[in-house]
Amino acid sequence: MPPRDPKVLVSEVSVTFESHGRSVVALDRISLQAQAGEFLCIVGPSGSGKSTLLRVLAGLVRQSAGEVRIQADHPGTPLTAMVFQEHALLPWRTVRDNVTFGLENRGIGRAAQETRAREMLAMVGLARFARHYPHQLSGGMKQRVGIARALANDPEVLLMDEPLAALDAQTRTIMQEELLRIWATLGKTVVYVTHSLEEALLLGDRVVLLTARPGRVSEVYPVDLGRPRGLEVRASPAYGALLEKIWSRLREEVVRAIADDRGSEEIGA
Ligand SMILES: Nc1ncnc2c1ncn2[C@@H]1O[C@H](COP(=O)(O)OP(=O)(O)OP(=O)(O)O)[C@@H](O)[C@H]1O
Ligand SMILES: [Mg+2]
Repeated sequence: MPPRDPKVLVSEVSVTFESHGRSVVALDRISLQAQAGEFLCIVGPSGSGKSTLLRVLAGLVRQSAGEVRIQADHPGTPLTAMVFQEHALLPWRTVRDNVTFGLENRGIGRAAQETRAREMLAMVGLARFARHYPHQLSGGMKQRVGIARALANDPEVLLMDEPLAALDAQTRTIMQEELLRIWATLGKTVVYVTHSLEEALLLGDRVVLLTARPGRVSEVYPVDLGRPRGLEVRASPAYGALLEKIWSRLREEVVRAIADDRGSEEIGA
């Protein structure tokens, strides 16, 4: 079989922001790919351009140079949907109406919206909370609504920017398991930003490590830990070795990012 085109293709993408009369190079000639159905994790120090990369993929930020291509296999469905670190739900809408928000905007009929919302809320374990409002939910539940909302749109690619970072450790662990289950069920292509290497190794097929600003691709690590993967993977020597290997490289970038931030403070930026 000939190799398939990648689902996500990022080729030599650079992003420069202008702010306060200065240029900030957030991304510098980033190239990467994700295959259809792949779970691709992005790690890197704060300021390395992880969120910027997702925003470029979502079409929210325009790259200054380079090319982004997302393979559209299902005409009429959106290319991407984003899950943010903070759930970003609409407080005046019920859980159900938050989930159908994108469908409404696309003019999907009410009956189809209803069915879709029911399916997605069942998938994230919130079937009984359809009529609740966001303020009546815990942080973990709100984050599930955010995930249900993104999935309801049936995007070609799911973009997740530290979606579990604000949760307590126990809820995060449960949500990681749920995410793996949902991903295995739906077979979506996922681009997932996280600060946690442990999370990247639990979830990802590959881990892309970005350098301190300006963000460049430092390394791409395949995660050869088998599937289905659960928390028990942490006990395997292969997991420990890979964690150690990625951390030793990431650590250098984190140190560099901190030194860089201190330097720019000193010159009064
Ligand atoms: N709209 C913007 N205008 C100006 N500068 C920006 C803008 N968005 C991001 N930046 C800058 O681009 C760089 C990368 O930011 P980005 O938010 O992508 O990093 P990140 O890797 O997601 O960081 P974190 O891990 O802290 O979330 C930073 O230096 C940031 O200050
Ligand atoms: Mg970010």
